[in-house]
Amino acid sequence: MQLENYIRDIQGFPKEGILFKDITPLLIDPKARKECLEILVSSLKDKKIDKVIGVESRGFFFGMLIAQELNVGFVPVRKPNKLPYDTISASYELEYGSDTLEIHTDAIRKGDRVLIHDDVLATGGTAKAVCELVEQLGGEIVQFNFLMELSFLNGRDKIMGYDIFAAIKY
Ligand code: PRP
Ligand code: MG
Repeated sequence: MQLENYIRDIQGFPKEGILFKDITPLLIDPKARKECLEILVSSLKDKKIDKVIGVESRGFFFGMLIAQELNVGFVPVRKPNKLPYDTISASYELEYGSDTLEIHTDAIRKGDRVLIHDDVLATGGTAKAVCELVEQLGGEIVQFNFLMELSFLNGRDKIMGYDIFAAIKY
């Protein structure tokens, strides 16, 4: 199976000049979705992961499937003011302005071995912010795990030194 065949290019979304990678064809096809999940977890055997983080919102889809497959806890990292219990937050720069992500303070324990999953690694701002959240709570990042990496945006530079896996590279 060619995973790329299940990613649809949408020109000009969400704004002009952007080529959006739409993963909904992959989500809707059970066979392709299962094969994609197998690829994502293939690099994780024997890594002794305790928790999988899924980043709101598109990181939730496969993040939860990976956690289920590994039989470990799932932790949502969410956009501001969505999580009900005590949180810590981390901000990151966007092209215009900044954005913030939050995590529950009891979601990661000191020494937890954590996998961070998201659909796309673009500029790396999101990944870096999640990295800060996990490490502030004493978690150890075992791998950054992505469906797609947009290599030309050099997001890797922001999370240099960590293990980075991407099922598809553009
Ligand atoms: C997109 C994408 C990644 C992030 C990658 O999420 O799903 O999470 O951007 O970009 P970066 O590497 O430049 O930080 P977005 O914030 O658009 O929200 P969504 O997942 O809710 O669509
Ligand atoms: Mg996202």
